[in-house]
Amino acid sequence: MDTVKKSIVKSLDGLELGLLPYLSYLLQDLWEIGASPDIIIDIIKKHAILKKESRILDLGCGKGAVLIKLVKEFGCQAYGIDALPEFIEEAKNYAKKNKVLQKCKFEVGDIRRVADHLQGYNLVILGSIGPVFGDVKSTLLKVQTCINDDGYIILDDGYLFDSSTLNSPVYFKETEILD
Ligand SMILES: C[S@@+](CC[C@H](N)C(=O)[O-])C[C@H]1O[C@@H](n2cnc3c(N)ncnc32)[C@H](O)[C@@H]1O
Repeated sequence: MDTVKKSIVKSLDGLELGLLPYLSYLLQDLWEIGASPDIIIDIIKKHAILKKESRILDLGCGKGAVLIKLVKEFGCQAYGIDALPEFIEEAKNYAKKNKVLQKCKFEVGDIRRVADHLQGYNLVILGSIGPVFGDVKSTLLKVQTCINDDGYIILDDGYLFDSSTLNSPVYFKETEILD
């Protein structure tokens, strides 16, 4: 298993551990640092995934852009976890600014260690976190225990075309993902 530092850097497409102390500075102007909240909102509306009383869990929530926008749109309760304390601090500030702090809980944690203890969610978001839990199958198996029987997982990530010759530690080929 990668160290948590390596897991963070890898999830942000970095290869050098030395980048870690600078990540928050480098990304200071961005709130959305991964998945697109608008696309996720559209998917949720299209499939009528959430009700007002639903509970959402965002694993590797970054600065909370997805979660906060979902709470604003659907009024649910939300829990976001990220390993980088600076991102969690920012997520709390954005929640306050957007007046949804009472519906959102943000905590620092290593999602590989805490996911086993979480259950009862209607929706789990994995927004551009890459292979933090391993390949897609291991990821879905790990996270399925967090959701209710009729719950959903939204996994948003990039992939390589099958014809790509790139050898990436982060991205899988399209067919591997769909399989
Ligand atoms: C590309 S960002 C995406 C953030 C957010 N999901 C979004 O879409 O805006 C990947 C996030 O995963 C977090 N991360 C990586 N490994 C982690 C781990 N083991 N535990 C918790 N968070 C982790 C990083 O700190 C980073 O914030």
